Amino acid sequence: MKVLVVGSGGREHALCRALSRDPAVSSIVCAPGNAGTADLAEPRPLDVGDPDAVAALAQSVQADLTIIGPEVPLVAGAADELRARGLTCFGPSAAAARLEGSKAFAKDVMRAAGVPTAAARDHTEIEPALADLDEFGPPYVVKYDGLAAGKGVTVTTDRAEAVAAVRSCLRRADDRVVIEEYLDGPEVSLFAIVTEAGTVVPLLPAQDHKRVGDGDTGPNTGGMGAYAPLPWAPPGLVPEVVDTVVRPVVDEMARRGTPFSGLLYAGLALTSRGVRVVEFNVRFGDPEVQAILALLATPLTDVLSGRRAPTWRSGAAVTVVVAASGYPQSPKVGDPISGLAAAQALTGVDILHAGTRRDADGRIVSSGGRVLCVTAIGSHLEAARGSAYEAISRLSLAGAHYRTDIGDLTRIGAPTWQAAPGGGASGSAERGP
Ligand code: AMP
Ligand code: GLY
Repeated sequence: MKVLVVGSGGREHALCRALSRDPAVSSIVCAPGNAGTADLAEPRPLDVGDPDAVAALAQSVQADLTIIGPEVPLVAGAADELRARGLTCFGPSAAAARLEGSKAFAKDVMRAAGVPTAAARDHTEIEPALADLDEFGPPYVVKYDGLAAGKGVTVTTDRAEAVAAVRSCLRRADDRVVIEEYLDGPEVSLFAIVTEAGTVVPLLPAQDHKRVGDGDTGPNTGGMGAYAPLPWAPPGLVPEVVDTVVRPVVDEMARRGTPFSGLLYAGLALTSRGVRVVEFNVRFGDPEVQAILALLATPLTDVLSGRRAPTWRSGAAVTVVVAASGYPQSPKVGDPISGLAAAQALTGVDILHAGTRRDADGRIVSSGGRVLCVTAIGSHLEAARGSAYEAISRLSLAGAHYRTDIGDLTRIGAPTWQAAPGGGASGSAERGP
């Protein structure tokens, strides 16, 4: 079958890589793609935010399946347009993509479905938003209510910074800000495939590191690295999250007449009071999916369609993002990258491209904030980590930076969270010793 992958980041390169290992896949198109996907998939220019253009491309390349990587085309209705033309697609409708597109909508669905999440209120006016800041107290959590590429959230103990964040979220008349209760405890990303028949298939849990600096310091980014699976996660975590989070949300969306299918990404905090949802996304998380797909042993198209349950290689995977100078505030682009072949040659290593392109001379240069997602598998987390950082040492990009503590349980502090006997999400969980 021919598969069209929509997008141009590390997630899409990881999808292309998994598809290239799938015996049912004869060819791949990745639009617009990057310098890495171009080795596996035919590149095509595409405005991913234009649903008509996405559907027209799927038709013209005669794609048997279209996988939509990023949230922007999903929220704009690309999946609806594809289905309206009778094309098969992996990704939710625009109505279902509101779970990511509007934090206020997601909160409403969670309330109706009884899903545990942080208390939150949304506002269009500054004064009542500031009153809520003081009612919730520090640490303050301020979110822009809309798509913000992972950068619309401020978590701070500094009231002046929180107030500034509220003001910057409310610049236009229709802007909305969400003020939220702070969630303590480690974060987990759990992805579940939801088939059109409503079957829920969880993937391996992963952990993403969103802050730019080691030790979770500095501003939030789109994600600086991830690892999977989580050796410290309690064995009952995945079934618990399916039962208390994913299934109720899928049922509630169906009840509303806007059924969800595609990838539901539950961003979770394992708090001292139990599992809480931080956010939903409606597509694979980047860079978590790079680590997760590196471990997938079942053909991807079988897993996406629900034909086969995923099976996993033993061991662990680590993805470290190599970011451009100035990321996340003002990434510098256009710099040549060298050492790619030497890094890729290491056993268990896969250099996935995120923000790269070929320049007029055929050199691979940086073209975005997150440039490379250096992914490695190993028999255990430390082995995978060692290979990933060995690969990075072979790469060269002027001014690049990366976190040195991805997957290092001794430095990120091996989370000790465990559900108390009798379950956690209802509030009976507690932090371990
Ligand atoms: P979001 O875009 O909602 O995923 O938020 C980005 C990041 O901000 C999350 O991954 C968390 O690290 C942090 N965050 C968001 N909401 C909260 C919260 N209520 N309490 C603590 N941290 C949060
Ligand atoms: N890894 C965070 C995200 O994809 O939103």
